[in-house]
Amino acid sequence: MELTIDQALQQGVTAHKEGNLQEAERLYRVVMQSQPAHPDANNNLGMLMVKYHQSHIALPFLMTALEGNSNVEQYWLNYINALINLDKLDIAKKFIKKANKAGFFGEKFDTLSARLLSPVQLHAKGEIFQAQDGHYFDFLKALHQNIYEVYFEIGTRTGDSLVLSQSPSIAIDPFFKLKKDPIGKKDFCLIFQETSDSFFENTLPKFSHLKCQLAFIDGMHLFECALRDFINLAKISSEEALFLFHDPIPWSYRMATRNNKTLPRNNAWTGDIWKLVPILMDAGMKDNINLLTSAPSGLLAILNPEKKLIAKLEESYDEICAEWLDVELSQDRLLDLYQRNVFVKPEMYLRSLEKISFGDRVGDISKQWVSQ
Ligand SMILES: C[S@@+](CC[C@H](N)C(=O)[O-])C[C@H]1O[C@@H](n2cnc3c(N)ncnc32)[C@H](O)[C@@H]1O
Repeated sequence: MELTIDQALQQGVTAHKEGNLQEAERLYRVVMQSQPAHPDANNNLGMLMVKYHQSHIALPFLMTALEGNSNVEQYWLNYINALINLDKLDIAKKFIKKANKAGFFGEKFDTLSARLLSPVQLHAKGEIFQAQDGHYFDFLKALHQNIYEVYFEIGTRTGDSLVLSQSPSIAIDPFFKLKKDPIGKKDFCLIFQETSDSFFENTLPKFSHLKCQLAFIDGMHLFECALRDFINLAKISSEEALFLFHDPIPWSYRMATRNNKTLPRNNAWTGDIWKLVPILMDAGMKDNINLLTSAPSGLLAILNPEKKLIAKLEESYDEICAEWLDVELSQDRLLDLYQRNVFVKPEMYLRSLEKISFGDRVGDISKQWVSQ
């Protein structure tokens, strides 16, 4: 039985809400086959593309929705959000003004306006920058559309980030609390319940052929631990490799403390991962470094660090630790971080990785021999 347009849209919305995004996309496209300019179908399909970190593809759909019905606040918000994701800040500013003229104001538009300001501009106003350009899980999911030689994850806990990988994977955590099946479509997923230091010292020698092409370092949030993890992984990296660290952009001074016991229970804690930005830039990696503004606290990305710089970093590890151990995040330190000119929109970073064809495109990776 053929669906009516309303039924297809309704089922699309239900699938969307349930997280069944492929089915939602299919149903929105069914609607658009009959009515190409259907505002809700265009808007919802655009929102899906934005979630996939594909705002450049979403933009025409979101514009069609807005042109179809400019009385819907959400259409304005979605279109402006996509523009900001693409760093089209001047156009976004114009559309915020247009929305205001059309009678749309309030907190949601204020949040979009705040995203037009650079970290340095916010600092000058006495405010602190908060990364808000899509969630880091959505960024990781988009990155994991490709396959990497081996994906290493340090700090896995529930598996929320590990499940996004489709690559052969290694996960290390002294206290796993997996809530999802981690294997998915991976060729293998090795799980080591130990600290990363123990893994590199005792376990890695048994798996010495493994090469890290993509890493997510999200274990102990003290700069010296994350730095050791980085050095250890970079030493076994593929020719082309990307290292991501979670939490380099704190949105309060307090959350950047080294001692998380000083924070109320369940408060967000970034630790002092931010220190890795000046440390690695000063170590000669300024052309390899970016700070991705993924919510809630950013990702630090190091692409293709030179092995000779890693060797130097290892040599000067003790000196670096001594220099940085007692440094606290102050207004001046934060301004220094902001002025380093390494902030980038996550979607723009993904596009730059596409340009250099980082990782292998996934073919049909469904395993024929796996019973369904
Ligand atoms: C923030 S959670 C990881 C979250 C996960 N990556 C995600 O995005 O859903 C941090 C994890 O790091 C683990 N951890 C703490 N110290 C570690 C260490 N020295 N080596 C490896 N993992 C560590 C903790 O047990 C915890 O499960």
